[in-house]
Amino acid sequence: MEIEKYIAERASAVNKALPLHISRLKDAQPRLAEAMTYSLAAGGKRLRPVLMGAAYEIFGGKASDILPAACALEMVHTYSLVHDDLPAMDDDDLRRGRPTSHKVYGEALAILAGDALLTDAFTVLLTSRYPARVTKPALVKAASVLSSRAGAKGMVSGQAADLQAEGYLDGRLTPARRRSGLELLSYIHLHKTADLITAAVEMGAALADAPDKDFRALSSFGREIGLCFQVADDILDVVGDKKKLGKSGSDARNRKLTFASLLGVDEARLKAAELLSRALSRLSAVNGRAVPKRALAEIAGFVLRREN
Ligand code: IPE
Ligand code: IPE
Ligand code: MG
Ligand code: MG
Ligand code: MG
Repeated sequence: MEIEKYIAERASAVNKALPLHISRLKDAQPRLAEAMTYSLAAGGKRLRPVLMGAAYEIFGGKASDILPAACALEMVHTYSLVHDDLPAMDDDDLRRGRPTSHKVYGEALAILAGDALLTDAFTVLLTSRYPARVTKPALVKAASVLSSRAGAKGMVSGQAADLQAEGYLDGRLTPARRRSGLELLSYIHLHKTADLITAAVEMGAALADAPDKDFRALSSFGREIGLCFQVADDILDVVGDKKKLGKSGSDARNRKLTFASLLGVDEARLKAAELLSRALSRLSAVNGRAVPKRALAEIAGFVLRREN
């Protein structure tokens, strides 16, 4: 099956489940619940939930077994986008083809919607119903993966470093500054983006109670494909069709350090291709069902050639 169709089908299951999880938060203040739903329902590729489902299936189950966990990760990702767009961060007006949360609900409620999406992701992950093959220890491991990949060791530090690196390329780029820029950028991308993508495949493996060796191989796959994903995002910010992207592109305005701004688009493309091939070789070390492994490989290819 064509991978775009596979992604769309699996994304549609996530799209159906997400609003139900919000509506189950019965005592949520209505405007807050509306803001949470607004950002979740705006669409998005749902790549992280799709990756989680495919990783889980390598070890025998069906992606639908772990749909609540996939929704939880998408909630954490969506919170990261709502906060990323805030005036104090990237100050963006458009996200997923719609005005950003703070443009519609104001800054204060956008911050709170992000807070609630993050916190309630753990409610959804830990209190939803799963088939018996998903054990309690597996759920605890998945929750610990999610919290550490999203937290101060993970995505939040990447975002902090990303903000701190604004303006890094002002002035003359000596070879030494270029080298240290690359190092800094690897840290930023590894954490701000690759950590949540790694969490997707690690959570899938954890929920399936995968052997440690395969968990580690999938984790390395997630890291490489996550880096590749952010290099592609950097390139799209420069050359992408803003309509298809559903966001306006703000890296140049914010003087961001990105692979495109540091290396130029052509060299960044080479870097992304190298990361993709590294990801594929990590994936080949995973033991398990061939069909979901092939799906993961094709999703990896999609990460590089995507237009949004
Ligand atoms: C955007 O992520 C933020 C980054 C980590 C680059 P996605 O490109 O997955 O955004 P959606 O979920 O499809 O909107
Ligand atoms: C954001 O990176 C990563 C997170 C939201 C954690 P970007 O700032 O490049 O993402 P976009 O381009 O706004 O989606
Ligand atoms: Mg940002
Ligand atoms: Mg941004
Ligand atoms: Mg970007």
